[in-house]
Amino acid sequence: MLFTTHSAPSLQLRNRIVMAPMTRSRAVDHNTPNALMAEYYGQRASAGLIVTEGTSPSPNGLGYARIPGLFTEAHVQGWKLVTDAVHAKGGKIFVQLMHTGRVAHVANLPAGAQVLAPTAEVCPGEMFTDTQGMQPHSAPRAMTADDIAHAVAEYARSAQLAIEAGFDGVELHAANGYLIEQFLNANVNHRSDGYGGSIEGRNRFALEVARATVAAIGADRVGIRLSPYGVFNGMGGYPEVEAQVLALIEELAQLGILYVHLLDHSALGAPPVPAEFKFRLRVAFHGLFILAGGFDRAGAESALTAGHADLIAFARPFIANPDLVERMQAKAALNPVDMTTFYTPGPKGYTDYPALGT
Ligand SMILES: Cc1cc2nc3c(=O)[nH]c(=O)nc-3n(C[C@H](O)[C@H](O)[C@H](O)COP(=O)(O)O)c2cc1C
Repeated sequence: MLFTTHSAPSLQLRNRIVMAPMTRSRAVDHNTPNALMAEYYGQRASAGLIVTEGTSPSPNGLGYARIPGLFTEAHVQGWKLVTDAVHAKGGKIFVQLMHTGRVAHVANLPAGAQVLAPTAEVCPGEMFTDTQGMQPHSAPRAMTADDIAHAVAEYARSAQLAIEAGFDGVELHAANGYLIEQFLNANVNHRSDGYGGSIEGRNRFALEVARATVAAIGADRVGIRLSPYGVFNGMGGYPEVEAQVLALIEELAQLGILYVHLLDHSALGAPPVPAEFKFRLRVAFHGLFILAGGFDRAGAESALTAGHADLIAFARPFIANPDLVERMQAKAALNPVDMTTFYTPGPKGYTDYPALGT
């Protein structure tokens, strides 16, 4: 089933294979996408759907070094190189909107930008900066109601720019401990206003962002990525997690968004998302359901055959195998992945992995 087409009314895919979003930190000049990035994504265009690396809708969301943005005209022009390269080969591409929130260091932010989060609690751990090496995360400022309204508007504006740049849609990154999940997660969101304190309160920011994005570009061009039970960036489980995510999914289903992209990071050491819970989410959501995390060809085939998902996303195998689709179809060996070049600038470990027969 992996290699069969899939048609949603607004999106025809040539196979069920999604290239998962992966930060690669090659936007070296003012967080602007470039020809090297276009070459990288173009090499991987045989995926049914590409979801780009996390891309900030705001100067305040550029917490990591050299990640791309999507809030200026220069960003739009840079991303056009990428969407053109993918479309020229018949591929489809969504941009992942990732506001890093408190997962940031001020040295990575442009002048005037601020580290913002639901509450003023510092993210545990360290991150890389180009000028000061590894550093503890910077202290965030707790967002005011105005900050929240501004951030919601930034997502909607960025989604509009995404369409201008030629993207087929946007994925809201509500996983892995970035801004939206900082609001969702009860271990991090200690607000006592209407944006915290209960299931409805913690879901509110995510839903406001989703509604504003849907109003900007249409529900059939919006997906969302979720990682309940994830532990990355100080997240972790909490007693109401299942009821909360179910409530969120039910609201998103009513909004009619295109897809839910559910991440299970147990292959990377996080607790597994219980199979029964995944199934309840799939039933509650009426659109496309994408599963990601630790899949190989056989695992993907069996998940699709069992009806657990409509599409399967692969991340690390796509780094090392630009022609992952063709290799899996031919049951050919995969290139090994070099972790040391995940986030380093330049073509090494980025555009120089060989395709079969080259
Ligand atoms: C280098 C690297 C960068 C990543 N960056 C992102 C990102 O920007 N956004 C995101 O949602 N997930 C990101 N991920 C997580 C992947 O999308 C994926 O969920 C994870 O690697 C598990 O899938 P896999 O077992 O197929 O690699 C990243 C993973 C890797 C290895």
